[in-house]
Amino acid sequence: TLNQQYEEKVRPCIDLIDSLRSLGVEKDLALPAIAVIGDQSSGKSSVLEALSGVALPRGSGIVTRCPLELKMKRRKEGEGWYGKISYQDFEEELKDLAGVENKIREGTVYTVLPSILEIASPDVPDLTLIDLPGITRVAVSGQKGNIENQKFITKQETISLVVVPCNVDIATTEALKMAQEVDPEGERTLGIMTKPDLVDKGTEDSVLQIVHNEVFPLKKGYMIVKCRGQKEIKDKVSLTEALEREEAFFSEHAYFKTLYDEGHATVPKLAEKLTLELVHHIKRSLPRLEEQIEKKLKTTQANLDKCGHGPPPDATERIGYLIDVSLPADSFQTHILDIRVTAFTK
Ligand code: GDP
Ligand code: NA
Ligand code: MG
Repeated sequence: TLNQQYEEKVRPCIDLIDSLRSLGVEKDLALPAIAVIGDQSSGKSSVLEALSGVALPRGSGIVTRCPLELKMKRRKEGEGWYGKISYQDFEEELKDLAGVENKIREGTVYTVLPSILEIASPDVPDLTLIDLPGITRVAVSGQKGNIENQKFITKQETISLVVVPCNVDIATTEALKMAQEVDPEGERTLGIMTKPDLVDKGTEDSVLQIVHNEVFPLKKGYMIVKCRGQKEIKDKVSLTEALEREEAFFSEHAYFKTLYDEGHATVPKLAEKLTLELVHHIKRSLPRLEEQIEKKLKTTQANLDKCGHGPPPDATERIGYLIDVSLPADSFQTHILDIRVTAFTK
């Protein structure tokens, strides 16, 4: 069965990366992740919240100022819910999702470092997603965000989700251009079409062509989703209800039903595809990861060797020894320090 396949093939990969992450390996090595990029108000946060079931700060202005890392871990049925938010020095376990939106907002206001939201639940997919600040067309205010975005999606280990609304001309999408610059072959890029309910009458066919990968081809292709619009948020339509509405929307749509039947539509299908893409990506990244670990191990071993049998008993020698083990042997600083220490101990 599908579930069995999941437990046998998908789970071990996700667990491996997760345990590497929890060992703090990420500080030294780049672990595979998925970054969401898109023009301002294209629907990035909406896609993330639909995937995670977590209401995220959104709106029409630039809401996401710094990256938000959303780490989701699927639990077995009946294992309950766990949540934690952290940014810079702040860390708090969550009892539920009430108020989490404001906490994320605080996190993204007070620091430029990524805020991290961890969720474990039977209702989330096994995914780590990064919500990046929107790409703005205005150079002055957009510059910093764009450079940060570029840094994220340039990393070989990142899959880019490029979010494009159905009601704008795909040719003018900054996010796709940016993705194309860092990933010319489109190997690591998956297109997500949003706002299908706002598509201009008469342009449905061109949306079909885009999702069928005929307009702006990407190796990983396209998916199409419908999230909560402004009115649905105002009317407090829940995320669960929104998923039901999405399913009804696609399965009954005159043009988009084809996409639904082909498995190109809806948030749950997207979650499924992303998990498989991530596993595929992790498998491909493993040789490089191993290489990086080997290299790290070598330098660590060399540093350890320098420590020899520990500090010598003689106090003067001990200072020299400490300088030796704490600084690279050939550095200019070591030389200066050596002279000073010699002067001092003489
Ligand atoms: P972001 O700036 O890219 O993170 O975009 P948001 O997720 O904040 O969405 C911008 C606006 O578009 C919000 O008002 C959302 O409610 C709305 N929106 C997002 N997805 C959809 C959709 O599928 N249909 C409709 N009608 N509105 C959407
Ligand atoms: Na926004
Ligand atoms: Mg956003």
